[in-house]
Amino acid sequence: MHKICVIEGDGIGKEVVPAAIRVLEATGIPFEFVYAEAGDEVYEKLGVALPEETIETALECEAVLFGAAGETAADVIVKLRHILDTYANVRPVKAYKGVKCLREDIDYIIVRENTEGLYKGIEAEIDEGITTATRVITEKASERIFKFAYELAKDRKKEGKEGKVTCAHKANVLKITDGLFKRVFYKVAENYKDIKAEDVYIDAMNMYIITRPQTFDVVVTSNLFGDILSDGAAGTVGGLGLAPSANIGDEHGLFEPVHGSAPDIAGKGIANPTATILSAVLMLRYLGEYEAANKIEKALEEVLSLGLTTPDLGGNLTTMQMAEEIAKRVEL
Ligand code: NAI
Ligand code: MG
Repeated sequence: MHKICVIEGDGIGKEVVPAAIRVLEATGIPFEFVYAEAGDEVYEKLGVALPEETIETALECEAVLFGAAGETAADVIVKLRHILDTYANVRPVKAYKGVKCLREDIDYIIVRENTEGLYKGIEAEIDEGITTATRVITEKASERIFKFAYELAKDRKKEGKEGKVTCAHKANVLKITDGLFKRVFYKVAENYKDIKAEDVYIDAMNMYIITRPQTFDVVVTSNLFGDILSDGAAGTVGGLGLAPSANIGDEHGLFEPVHGSAPDIAGKGIANPTATILSAVLMLRYLGEYEAANKIEKALEEVLSLGLTTPDLGGNLTTMQMAEEIAKRVEL
């Protein structure tokens, strides 16, 4: 029995999470879903966006499945990632058949450092009209994120991938912080002689994910750069409705779509559940349920290629109808 903390959150979070749960239940794996609250609505109600009770539930469950928060996202999801110490934010970028993508051979993973960098939240107004933000890069956090990236490349190599890690940084300008980041990257590389290591500047990387995305395997970068790069990358394989993510630490795993609460389409039942379903697939792999994970991914591929999708991908199904099409195939 896997005990999962489920946080639907706000907006389309309340639509895409039930869709993913429907598909998870179709696998026949026994789950205990423990529902917890977070986000704008709870803030309105209780004056706190991430209640203590939710934190406790998240800490005691085997994994967390999260939908989206609205304006309180920073107080909810960024805080939760810190509390659970999920230092690696894993964002697969993969072209599925039936989805309009830049190329059909795109298949790489962005690993974003999740605990420091510019998102450490150290901001100040040092004088009137003068503000600063402190960018924190430590050897310890860099070392563990690079180790994670190399291990991931090692696993993917076993599945026939190239076995390469690309580090994206800006060490030519951010000489001290990214100087350290780059140095640690090559130091960790010494323990992974069978994996190729290369580094590129983040601005050039932003172009390469468009001009030659097929050449990447595992891409590792710092917090803010990874946030920006991965949304752009999502755009090359069908948009935010398809982009999943996993937040992984040594003790906890939190799985969530990259998108937010999408207030422009919330309540209409037309949100694409794919990103959340793929996040649930990442969760299944984290739980060691590989067979079920592969089964869902295969069912999803079939549904996408048949055009049985929500309107953002040109189909005419609702969120739940699309989930139902996938669940049906998983149950077969
Ligand atoms: P968003 O991701 O919610 O939406 C951006 C655009 O993508 C919108 O046009 C939306 O309709 C579309 N979209 C997103 N998910 C979709 C899906 N599953 N199917 C079809 N279309 C989809 O980002 P936005 O508009 O910048 O922010 C809206 C709210 O979400 C804000 O309050 C923001 O703070 C919050 N947010 C929360 C995040 C989180 O909880 N992890 C992440 C990003 C934003
Ligand atoms: Mg983002």
